[in-house]
Amino acid sequence: MEKKTTFGSRIGAILAAAGSAVGLGNIWRFPCETGANGGAAFILLYIGCIILVALPVLITELAVGRESKVNVFDTYRKLAPHKSWQWIGFIGVMGGFMVFSYYSVVAGWTVEYTYEAITNNIIGKTPEQYAADFGAFASSPWRPVLWMFIFILITLVIVVMGVKNGIERGAKVMMPMLFLLLIVLMGCSLSLPGAAKGVRFLLKPDFTKIDTGILLSAMGQAFFTLSVGIGTLMTYANYFSDKVNIVKDAANVAGIDTLVAIFAGLIIFPAAMSVNINPDAGPSLVFITLPNVFQQAFAGAPVLCYIVTVMFYLLLAMAALTSSISMLEMTTAFVCQKFNMRRTSAAITLAVLTFMAGACCALSFGPWKDITLFGMGFFDLFDYAVAKLAMPVGGFFSCIMFALMGRKKMTHILTNGGKLRLGIIPDVLFYIIGFIAPLLIIVVFLNELGVF
Ligand code: PHE
Repeated sequence: MEKKTTFGSRIGAILAAAGSAVGLGNIWRFPCETGANGGAAFILLYIGCIILVALPVLITELAVGRESKVNVFDTYRKLAPHKSWQWIGFIGVMGGFMVFSYYSVVAGWTVEYTYEAITNNIIGKTPEQYAADFGAFASSPWRPVLWMFIFILITLVIVVMGVKNGIERGAKVMMPMLFLLLIVLMGCSLSLPGAAKGVRFLLKPDFTKIDTGILLSAMGQAFFTLSVGIGTLMTYANYFSDKVNIVKDAANVAGIDTLVAIFAGLIIFPAAMSVNINPDAGPSLVFITLPNVFQQAFAGAPVLCYIVTVMFYLLLAMAALTSSISMLEMTTAFVCQKFNMRRTSAAITLAVLTFMAGACCALSFGPWKDITLFGMGFFDLFDYAVAKLAMPVGGFFSCIMFALMGRKKMTHILTNGGKLRLGIIPDVLFYIIGFIAPLLIIVVFLNELGVF
């Protein structure tokens, strides 16, 4: 019998979960979504979606994960009213595998850009050159694949080292560094002349911009950024001690995650607007627009420009790493338990498979551009399947499963068997988890599928 695995400390558990949540979703996806959807109005909707949907799903995942103490697939098998629910868990595992595959592609880009920044190959180009360089890199048949390989390898090493020595220790080192980098970068960006325009864009809502399309994006972003729906944090919760205050820790994780997203906005928008560049460039924002922004903004101080550029890409790469670790851990836990495999063999097998699937995604920006399924290349297809299908479906069913356990049992779990005094919170959560969140998910999901 294997010894029960747990995180070593409460702060370690929170940092690991926050590490999963904080990632490219915050620093890469959030600014482009905000830029493309009109700034502050989008942020308000996004915060609404976090509070009413993603946070309740997060509380659910942590609660059922800690309760079941097994991987996602078996959690549904164990706690749901019928065995067939295990397939929801299986969708989660597939989602975890797919998200790791395509996430590693962009993560690989961040490693390449960190390398280029350190070797001083980024600064000193024209805007056209930045676009051309990125295009040439992303469509190259081998460079993105190589960087992706390196990134997957680092993730693998940490996961193989184990929950306490790898994941927890990694989070304890990387998360404080991440915060430090964010704060320094924010200071630099906010001190630029004309930075106030960017802050206004981020904080002053223009409600005429709100429509259903923006609501969809806000909900998708909320799911993605908190890593919920596919059971990633359900897996981490397997390693939580019975003393953890689930509601409080979930709120902490959501709080940290939102703060980091806003900080990332406060780095990117003031810098961009100080040199009159519109930050609505989409996914290429941080790879094409930003190098140019940094270069213009810090034109008078080349050394500072170098440092800021290196710090920014290092920040991105590290944030991606703490997230990818959780993706691999989730599928590894499943394969270990389901096929009775050793942790190391399971993780290596999954990393190899991920590398193969990820290579298809990477190549869909270049030589395999024309290979499409349902009108999408591999990368877009994987992103769609995860963020638009697996996450809402998983989020919906996890809430329903938790609510079906009944109000009494839910309260029992959330209060650690009555030991925590949470007042009316469990009752309020019962209604949010059982009714409001699933209803909102359904509405958005059907809308997305074009049903109405
Ligand atoms: N939340 C992570 C981010 O913001 C992405 C993620 C999605 C991580 C799904 C794990 C599972 O980048």
